[in-house]
Amino acid sequence: MSARQSLYDEVGGKPAIVPIVDDFYRRILADPHLVQFFHGIDMAELKRHQRALVTVALGGVSENYTGRMMRPAHDGLNIDEDSFDRVLTHFSDTLLARNVNPISVEKALAILEALRHDVVQAQPAYRH
Ligand code: HEM
Repeated sequence: MSARQSLYDEVGGKPAIVPIVDDFYRRILADPHLVQFFHGIDMAELKRHQRALVTVALGGVSENYTGRMMRPAHDGLNIDEDSFDRVLTHFSDTLLARNVNPISVEKALAILEALRHDVVQAQPAYRH
């Protein structure tokens, strides 16, 4: 609980969330590789998605709950490892551009990283 609270606080708390979501959203839209996943989804939905992702990354919702909902939410979207990496890179760039402490950025990335196997569902060429 206190660890979650502090990560949210470390990035600047409530006033920081809207600018973070806005910048993150712009970075995703500017990435031609990622636009395909949101094709046919309106911009308000994409923004809602980015808000959900930021909330998860900063510990705003239970990780157990999120883990369970990630697989059905991304089922059939064929998201590959590279696309997942790109989204995380844009998120990291967004936080670093706001001068968030790199250690806090790493913590947020670790939370998202734990969800990788539920989000990435494209068939790998090789499974080990
Ligand atoms: C750990 C990282 C991620 C988190 C926490 C996350 C979170 C979510 C959540 C909560 C939903 C369902 C609720 C909603 O529709 O708003 C969702 C759906 C979706 N996600 Fe993600 N997501 C992640 C990564 C990704 C990535 C890497 C992509 C694409 C490259 C992606 C694309 C989508 C799409 C297209 C939907 C369906 C949207 C819709 O039909 O409304 N997500 N995600």
